[in-house]
Amino acid sequence: MGRFVIAVDGPAASGKGTIAMRLGRAFGLPVLDTGLLYRAVGVLTQRAGESLDDEGATGSIAALMTAGQLDDPALRTRAAGELASRVAIHRRVRDALLAFQHSFAHQDGGAILDGRDIGTVICPDAPAKLYVTATPEVRAERRWKQLTAQGEVVAYEDVLADIRRRDARDGGRDTAPMVAAPDAQLLDTTEMTIEQAADAARRIVEVARARWESSQ
Ligand code: DC
Repeated sequence: MGRFVIAVDGPAASGKGTIAMRLGRAFGLPVLDTGLLYRAVGVLTQRAGESLDDEGATGSIAALMTAGQLDDPALRTRAAGELASRVAIHRRVRDALLAFQHSFAHQDGGAILDGRDIGTVICPDAPAKLYVTATPEVRAERRWKQLTAQGEVVAYEDVLADIRRRDARDGGRDTAPMVAAPDAQLLDTTEMTIEQAADAARRIVEVARARWESSQ
C-alpha cells in the first residue's frame, strides 16, 4: 500500500485546521498543522531577542526546532500568528522546515498536512488537495470568537485588519506564496457551518481516494 497524502491549504481562519482534524479522524490519518512550525520559529526568535527580519538568525532557529516545541500554548495566540507570517517570508526558514514536513508526509499509510504551500511546494504529488477559503469578514469573525474563547481581549476590527495584512503578506511573498495548486479542489466555507464544511471536504477526499486506490 502506498501513502495517501491529503494537502489542505488556505488562508488564516478559513476552517482548514478543523477540516484537517476531521479528515484525520474520518480517514485514520495523522495530521500536521504546519502553521505551528512557523509560529514556533517566530516565538523562539522573539524569545532569543533576534530580529524577525534576519534571515540567517531565523533560519538557524528553524534548523534547530524539534517536535517537542510545538505543544507550547503561546503558539496559539494572535501575536504568534503575526510573528509566524513575518518569519515565513524567509527562504532559509522554509528550507529548514522542509525535512520535518517531508518526513511527516512520508509516513506509512499517509498523512494530512495543513498550511499554505502543501499542495504547491511540500507535497505537489499529493493525491488529494483542498484549498479552503472564506471571505475575510467571516474568517475574522471565526478567529475573533476563537481568541475570545481562549481569553484574549481583542476587537473584531483589529482581527479583521490582522487577517487582511496576513493575506497580503502570505500571498505576496516571493518564496512559496499562498496560492491554490492548479489541481486543488476549491472549498468556499463562507456560507457553511463547520459540520457542512467538514462533510463537503470528506466527500471530496473520498472521490480522490477512490481514484488513488484504483491507480495503485
Ligand atoms: O495557519 P496559521 O495561521 O497557523 O499560520 C501562521 C503563519 O505561518 C501564516 O500566516 C503564514 C505561515 N505559514 C506558511 O507560510 N506556510 C505554511 N505551510 C503554514 C503557515
